[in-house]
Amino acid sequence: MKSTGSGILPTIVLDRNAGRSLQRQIYDSFRSGIIERRLRPGQRIPSTRALATELSISRFPVLNAYAQLVAEGYLEGRVGAGTVISRLLANPAPSDDRPEAGATGSGRRPMARRASAIAAPRNAPWFHGIGAFGLGQVAFDQFPLPVWSRIVARRCRRMDAKATHYGEITGSKVLREAVATYLRTSRSLRCEPEQVVIVSGSQQALELTVRVLLDPGSRVWMEEPGYELARQVFRLAGCNLVPVPVDAEGLNVDAGIRLGRKARAAFVTPSHQFPLGVVMSAARRFRLLQWAQANGAWIIEDDYDSEYRYESMPIASLQGLDDHARVVYIGTFSKVLFPALRLGYIVLPVDLIEPFRAVRRVLDIGPPTFHQEVLAEFIAEGHFARHIRRMRGIYRERKDMLVDSIRSELGSEVETPGAEAGLHLTITLPARCREIEIAERAAQQQLWLWPLSRYYTGRGAQPGFVLGFGSAGLKEIRPAVRKLRNLIS
Ligand SMILES: Cc1ncc(COP(=O)(O)O)c(C=O)c1O
Repeated sequence: MKSTGSGILPTIVLDRNAGRSLQRQIYDSFRSGIIERRLRPGQRIPSTRALATELSISRFPVLNAYAQLVAEGYLEGRVGAGTVISRLLANPAPSDDRPEAGATGSGRRPMARRASAIAAPRNAPWFHGIGAFGLGQVAFDQFPLPVWSRIVARRCRRMDAKATHYGEITGSKVLREAVATYLRTSRSLRCEPEQVVIVSGSQQALELTVRVLLDPGSRVWMEEPGYELARQVFRLAGCNLVPVPVDAEGLNVDAGIRLGRKARAAFVTPSHQFPLGVVMSAARRFRLLQWAQANGAWIIEDDYDSEYRYESMPIASLQGLDDHARVVYIGTFSKVLFPALRLGYIVLPVDLIEPFRAVRRVLDIGPPTFHQEVLAEFIAEGHFARHIRRMRGIYRERKDMLVDSIRSELGSEVETPGAEAGLHLTITLPARCREIEIAERAAQQQLWLWPLSRYYTGRGAQPGFVLGFGSAGLKEIRPAVRKLRNLIS
């Protein structure tokens, strides 16, 4: 076991009038810290010199207290590694009847109703695996790590005192400029760098958008089926969701108008609907914009993976068609680079810039600066464009292999909607199929199947699977589809 803690000073309060020696007080502090598990086995404690200096006392009482704790087996000293809490105390029995931190005693303790209504992340087996057919995953081994590491190292070397101060509330100017150029050029957005807000992924983009635009009780159109993490953000804000069905043309706008004409906002994934993968038709796009304009509603456009379009040129964004500044556009680097980066962006109508700045300042003052600047350099040197071009080819091969394997292994009657773009597609199954049971059995064979019905809130859920192919190697795909066939049959 490695030592941890690196000699962090524990809280020790000495009382010279306590009637107990300093040595005894130090001994008692460590002993109770260990018994109460505030100090854990393997954790390194400060040197006698550091502790004596911190407590403004001579080293002798500290030396004597440590010697006694070592003699009694609470501490162990190791040459070169300093003194650590004894590893032999790895699982001490609870010392007294105080509950463990977080234990609730009887019943639930009070918390915000909205927070308790949010489901805890499900510990479903398909959440954990990488490879065929995990969702939200990219081809991790294809990312140009040497290039990225070189830029990181260069920027580290160049860091000065200014770089350690708070950054800009809406994100580094260099990255906002790079993002605006990229979006104007490849996604047909109408935007200037001032309209761009850098955030930690689409998830924070949504959270911020909801805080600025919506009130508790605001009605929001939500795609049905739709992206669960978006739904949860609206729920957490106390919004009333209006599930609007999705068909082969995307969100059914007329159904939305019937169900909730007066809604304050609509959340849509028009370029590649999540999870069904359909593309919103031009007619529906104009109808949606028209509705928003006529009703003073906002459109929240989540454009999370449309860089990867295989059958035709990328579809222009809704934002680019919007003449009335009703669209808040959200994008992410999670799919085009990697999700751990936690970088994404919002493009705002001009009149929303100031309200977003004000609310964002309260939320987190601004995004961390370092990786924004690394990314801006990565883009400026052309690596970003090159990476997208290369990955489009790789993902196309994977997608073709997947569609082909589905046809040959599952039969041509199984449809694969959503295969024109992005990193996932869906297959639907006959109503009698027990998708959850299949997914659980699949996980035991290292096959990660995400049940389609989980993305529906109402009745009408269709059994099926959302299959991610981002992190599935080409050779892995056909055998994985065979496994799927065996499980279904
Ligand atoms: C519909 C949708 N939006 C956004 C994202 C990306 O979220 P983030 O940028 O927070 O990583 C995903 C990821 O899987 C997604 O499926």
